[in-house]
Amino acid sequence: MEKKNIDWSNLGFGYLQTDYSYVSNYRDGAWDEGGLTEDHTVTLNECAGVLQYAQTVFEGLKAYTTDDGHIVTFRPDLNDERLAASAARLEIPVLPKGRFLEAVTKVVAANAAYVPPYGSGATLYVRPYIFGSNAVIGVKPADEYQFRILCTPVGPYFKGGAKPITIRVSDFDRAAPHGTGNIKAGLNYAMSLHAIVTAHREGYDENLYLDPGTRTKVEETGGANFLFITKDNKVVTPKSDSILPSITRRSLMHVAQEYLGLQVEQREVYLDEVKDFAECGLCGTAAVISPVGKIVDHGREICFPSGMDEMGPVTKKLYDTLTGIQMGRIEAPEGWIHVIA
Ligand code: PLP
Ligand code: COI
Repeated sequence: MEKKNIDWSNLGFGYLQTDYSYVSNYRDGAWDEGGLTEDHTVTLNECAGVLQYAQTVFEGLKAYTTDDGHIVTFRPDLNDERLAASAARLEIPVLPKGRFLEAVTKVVAANAAYVPPYGSGATLYVRPYIFGSNAVIGVKPADEYQFRILCTPVGPYFKGGAKPITIRVSDFDRAAPHGTGNIKAGLNYAMSLHAIVTAHREGYDENLYLDPGTRTKVEETGGANFLFITKDNKVVTPKSDSILPSITRRSLMHVAQEYLGLQVEQREVYLDEVKDFAECGLCGTAAVISPVGKIVDHGREICFPSGMDEMGPVTKKLYDTLTGIQMGRIEAPEGWIHVIA
């Protein structure tokens, strides 16, 4: 299979249409068989549930070319599980058993020419999503839904790739106590748009959101979980019911413990103690691990000893081991790598 003529190494994190998407519809209480489509537009009734009441949930995963030339995805079973949890919370019907993995496999295989070559630094981002598609005007769940998967080749989420970023403590909350912060719903991202636009305008790369109940604890950013490294090399990650259970973070905690022999801790992290950490990073599918050099809290600067030039040493080890597993250079734990082609 010949790859598309794309300047892989200079891709940013943007949308580039590929040849195929996947589509399946839910009507009369059941999902249809679904299949590939070359139609990348969606036509909806003006009153569709997704347009009126934001009834939509999504996922994000990546397809990689490994060093021996296979196309693989990383722990897609966990994306399947999380999509089902997100769907249940928004009264969206769950997919038939096995459908998610079948659809991801089909659409990635069909777009093999868009899976960036090994070593290019780019990956194929895979975005499954489900939305309410029929008209609803009273506040209630839709009766009809569409499940789609779009694919797009991407480079680093933050400009500059592995260069440390600067983030600020947001005055807005991302989630409510007992709200929807722990699921991947479009509404959680809509509320972050004003915060991210103003952060960028003021020169910051991202927002750090605090816990909505007390505003004293670190939650996550708009699109990634936090990892902190203590001065004695312990890996600490915030525990909260209102953050997204990141698959990257869960994987990294395993990698830290089992591959690197580091101590790991998932616990509440107070903003006041952040100044004592040696390193800080954001982790997620899009972010991979993006090092944070500085956090600004209303004029007070928290500068990590790892500095603004490169990733801290422990963050770098975690990054190298995780990406090594994803790209086939390091043996993966059983079941982590799903081979597509
Ligand atoms: N937190 C938020 C708000 C996200 O949007 C994401 C991205 O998916 C993550 C964390 C990281 O999750 P994952 O590692 O499963 O991609
Ligand atoms: C992902 O990492 O897959 C996400 O959905 C984060 C988003 C901000 C791009």
